[in-house]
Amino acid sequence: MGAGKSTLGAATAQRLGRRFLDLDVEIERHTGSSVPELFERGESEFREVEEQLAAWALESRELIVAALGGGAVLSARTRELLRERAVTVLLDVEVDRSWERVRGSDRPLARTEQSFRRLYDERRPLYEEVADARAHDVDGVVLAAGGVHVELGGLERLGELVPGTGAVEIVSDARVAGIYGMDVQLALGARARASHELPPGEAAKSVESLEALWHALRLERGGTLVALGGGCTTDAAGFAAATYVRGVAWVAVPTTLVGQVDAAIGGKTAIDLAGGKNLVGAFHWPVRTVVDPATLETLPEQEHANGLAEVVKTGLLAGNALWQLPVEEQVRRCAAFKTAVCLRDPHDRGERAQLNLGHTFAHALEAAAGFDLPHGRAVALGLLAALRLSGLETTVVDEVLRPEPVPVDRERAWAALARDKKVVGGVPRLTLLEAPGRPRLGAELPEADIRAALDALIGG
Ligand SMILES: NC(=O)c1ccc[n+]([C@@H]2O[C@H](COP(=O)([O-])OP(=O)(O)OC[C@H]3O[C@@H](n4cnc5c(N)ncnc54)[C@H](O)[C@@H]3O)[C@@H](O)[C@H]2O)c1
Ligand SMILES: [Zn+2]
Repeated sequence: MGAGKSTLGAATAQRLGRRFLDLDVEIERHTGSSVPELFERGESEFREVEEQLAAWALESRELIVAALGGGAVLSARTRELLRERAVTVLLDVEVDRSWERVRGSDRPLARTEQSFRRLYDERRPLYEEVADARAHDVDGVVLAAGGVHVELGGLERLGELVPGTGAVEIVSDARVAGIYGMDVQLALGARARASHELPPGEAAKSVESLEALWHALRLERGGTLVALGGGCTTDAAGFAAATYVRGVAWVAVPTTLVGQVDAAIGGKTAIDLAGGKNLVGAFHWPVRTVVDPATLETLPEQEHANGLAEVVKTGLLAGNALWQLPVEEQVRRCAAFKTAVCLRDPHDRGERAQLNLGHTFAHALEAAAGFDLPHGRAVALGLLAALRLSGLETTVVDEVLRPEPVPVDRERAWAALARDKKVVGGVPRLTLLEAPGRPRLGAELPEADIRAALDALIGG
């Protein structure tokens, strides 16, 4: 009561493009009486209707966002359905704050402070029992819906955060294993059965390293693979999880800024072929993503810069200067933004294309440089081109990312851009912005303009 379920529930539904159902409103509609009126007739009658309508909502096949009344969890049947059919988010609120919000209202169970506090204490254990996650704002609820857990020090709590009780095998690279491998093993305790190492960087995403990993894994269907590392590790290990014994559960534990705001979110896994990056892969959403921003402290400066380019991209798409926030909040907000886009378009058939902002140009420059160009530097330049073609000012990119032209072959870059998979009938389709916060998908521009924008990124 007074935790803000109706407000946050409605806002979350809007962010996820889903219908919102407020159980109390539904009860009033169904019975034709207000909640206080129903209570006057007796609480048990109210609870019966509440249980029935909760079951109807929880058994619906449509994906919805629902706010349950504070007493709905008193029903064992409702608690069971919550466990089986829902991601249940507890809106964590102090009793004093919720009492301030509800005192003087017409809520039948908030007449006196003493009884309100007693109720809070009584129900608390039931809330804890059904909660899959806790949140205090819309981003928090969205993250919970996507199974993304952001917590400073989360790595040490991995034992509780990896769902289930079965065996766990850890996949990492030598560097990350050297820094965090021991902590993760300790946190997982006896569940940790084996650790595997992938080669560092993009080499992890080769057919050969996948083959070696498949041979090394001993997981059974009920086991869980934990991918600990940057985007290369989570892409390759996630693909191993998607394919090994036709799919096992996996938990992503991203340790780079790129991983925490981008690569470990959204369920895309992939490896590379000689003909191009990410050509073989699968959609396989991790059962949980555990983001511990504390791991970023050991990240080399260049890797941080790579991630910052994605933070600026996300901020431009969100229409919010996310790059100005402290790094933990940057991570949380960017992760929530990507989670929402991916939940709205899990299979990349529509608006998820907005996440390519700046990337058509970035990929062309990377290809022209023979992939010997940091991704962040390429994305910074790509964002510059996207903003210019959108007719928007570029100050943010200039000041935060300081892009510098790259010395690559212009013809090679142009050929790579024209080969990009977003090309339809010879004309590249670009993601641009109407304004910050308003992406414009599939923009078609005159070839000469695109070429000029690309040329302006090359020099030196
Ligand atoms: N699946 C997706 O949606 C998606 C999205 C974006 C990028 N990606 C992929 O992600 C990959 C790039 O990921 P990346 O930038 O994280 O690179 P990466 O995985 O190669 O990691 C970069 C380097 O940092 C080291 N490292 C990682 N965490 C560290 C830490 N905490 N402290 C010290 N060193 C650490 C690693 O050992 C590695 O050498 C690309 O292959 C890209 O295609 C995938
Ligand atoms: Zn990128």
